[in-house]
Amino acid sequence: MSRSAILPRSAPFDAEDIAGLNAIFARASRDQRAWLAGFLAGIDAAQREGPAPVAAPVARTKLTILYATESGHAEALAHAAQRDAARRGFAPRVLDMADASVSALAESPNLLVIASTWGEGEAPQRAAPFLRALAADDAPRLDGVRFAVLALGDSAYAQFCAIGKRIDARLEGLGGIRIAARVDCDLDYEAPAASFVDRVLAALAPPTDAGSVIHVDFHRTDGAGTAKPERVDAPVAALHPIGSSWSERETWHLEIDLTGSGLDYQPGDALALMPRNDPALAESILAATGLAGDQAVRDALIRERDLATLTAKLIADYGAITGDDRVLALAADEAARAQFIPGRQVIDLLEAFPHRLTGADLLRLLRKLSVRYYSIASSQKIVGEAAHLAIAKVAYESAGRSRTGVASGLVAGRLAVGDTLPVRVKANPQFRLPEDPDAPIVMIGAGTGIAPYRAFLQEREAIGARGRSWLMFGHRRFTHDFLYQLDIQAWLKSGVLGEVDLAFSRDQPEKRYVQHLLWERRDALRARLAEGATLYLCGDARSMARDVDATLVRILGQPALDELITAGRYRKDVY
Ligand SMILES: Cc1cc2nc3c(=O)[nH]c(=O)nc-3n(C[C@H](O)[C@H](O)[C@H](O)COP(=O)(O)OP(=O)(O)OC[C@H]3O[C@@H](n4cnc5c(N)ncnc54)[C@H](O)[C@@H]3O)c2cc1C
Ligand SMILES: Cc1cc2nc3c(=O)[nH]c(=O)nc-3n(C[C@H](O)[C@H](O)[C@H](O)COP(=O)(O)O)c2cc1C
Repeated sequence: MSRSAILPRSAPFDAEDIAGLNAIFARASRDQRAWLAGFLAGIDAAQREGPAPVAAPVARTKLTILYATESGHAEALAHAAQRDAARRGFAPRVLDMADASVSALAESPNLLVIASTWGEGEAPQRAAPFLRALAADDAPRLDGVRFAVLALGDSAYAQFCAIGKRIDARLEGLGGIRIAARVDCDLDYEAPAASFVDRVLAALAPPTDAGSVIHVDFHRTDGAGTAKPERVDAPVAALHPIGSSWSERETWHLEIDLTGSGLDYQPGDALALMPRNDPALAESILAATGLAGDQAVRDALIRERDLATLTAKLIADYGAITGDDRVLALAADEAARAQFIPGRQVIDLLEAFPHRLTGADLLRLLRKLSVRYYSIASSQKIVGEAAHLAIAKVAYESAGRSRTGVASGLVAGRLAVGDTLPVRVKANPQFRLPEDPDAPIVMIGAGTGIAPYRAFLQEREAIGARGRSWLMFGHRRFTHDFLYQLDIQAWLKSGVLGEVDLAFSRDQPEKRYVQHLLWERRDALRARLAEGATLYLCGDARSMARDVDATLVRILGQPALDELITAGRYRKDVY
């Protein structure tokens, strides 16, 4: 079925009619399709002879599906659960935690929560005010609310699924009744999430006569029924370092050619890029496991497997495959693991405890390679069918080895113009310019956090926006790390950018960061917010975002900051 096809080939029409109807539906908006569905049902009812049979009213079981997301997985799962629940006769509604109030939960008899964890054990940013309210001493009781929590995370993080765990405990603490044990999902979340939702819906079971309901899924956009955006192999059109060659943090400007791909994006969106591993690392792993020369396994290692991340589960699995008592002892000893894992990767484990493996065992041992996200640094109104990215090279030494990041190492070392990369657009509706082009914006960013602001400013330039734009940018050194300096200077000159404040941390004896700029300019910030400005923050989540948040709380107070978040006027894209 083509991407725009809505009626399946099995629909009770001729092939020609199906094609004709699909052509109309493809052009129609969702509202038009919904109108048509209602209209046809109405005509049918009116033309029926005699009184139309009236279905016995069925009180459908209410189900609230509440999600907290940063990059959209929890949201997509929530909508899939909603479709599943509707099919089974529930009356489900989906709520983004960013738009929900805790008091409304008390009125939900059944609650399914799907929440991811970000930063270092933190909540998705737009969900933070809700979670603060849920944790507060005066949070309403949830006695009798039947709930289940699905936690999304990544076991490579120390605070695995921390937010889901916290919500699960708190709902119980407030009197909720847990109807299914929480499930903590790792990166391969699809299958465990689907079976969890299945169990929860069965436990809540409102079995009505769902069999007679024809479920029309207007969200469905492709034949497989998945809501995942499409991935394409797109060529590299340009690639060069930005910043000077003396920079302590190499950053690369990568242009991806999207001609003919059909991929579109908005300023604020990210590009998901599937990297390839360093062949040298794949070969070290093959050598360590006695598989040197196995071309099929080598290819799978390079393209499909995470060759780096060492998790407790991987150590336990390696112990189980090899039967090595030392590995099993390490897997069983939390303190020993906490000593061994930091700074080490899979290759360190394999070389410390060498064993011959079969190709199948090796591939089963390793997690699947995951995409890397990059904020798009361009507007299609300026660059057309292309996407620009700014990628900082991850390179460090640990446990006696030099290591490079998978994707950034590829971009900074092994990629060339003309090579292709599998990419898809990751929409980021939370990080958009204000609809009103005359509204002021304040953009705070450090390092590659400049990327989406380049997209914003290109867009504002293209549409002739008159809203005042203010950039606060930080990096290490003015002479080496002033990323996109020429663009910024040109925008300052043309007025697209009203003002710029810069903080270069290593240009003077004392460290100077964007939060220092913010504090110095706090009166101007308050004034701009009073004029209706939207505030943006992009870049490093660990230190920069925390320090900026703490400074904003100091300047505005937590309640005022929460109000800005809830109103969509403080938007973050931090990683
Ligand atoms: C929405 C979003 C937007 C993003 N936008 C951008 C962007 O515009 N530009 C950009 O450059 N990145 C961006 N990132 C980050 C990007 O996705 C990757 O995480 C980053 O490039 C690293 O990927 P990698 O494959 O090169 O490194 P990986 O192979 O993933 O390695 C990174 C890991 O190496 C380890 N590590 C790194 N340094 C050290 C050290 N000194 N000591 C010990 N261990 C260390 C850490 O475990 C770290 O997680 C974004 C992320 C998100 C989620
Ligand atoms: C920058 C970053 C930080 C993350 N931090 C954590 C973490 O501390 N704990 C965890 O379990 N998972 C962490 N994850 C993994 C996410 O929770 C996981 O990718 C999840 O599927 C995202 O779901 P979402 O798209 O609904 O936000 C992190 C992911 C990224 C990209």
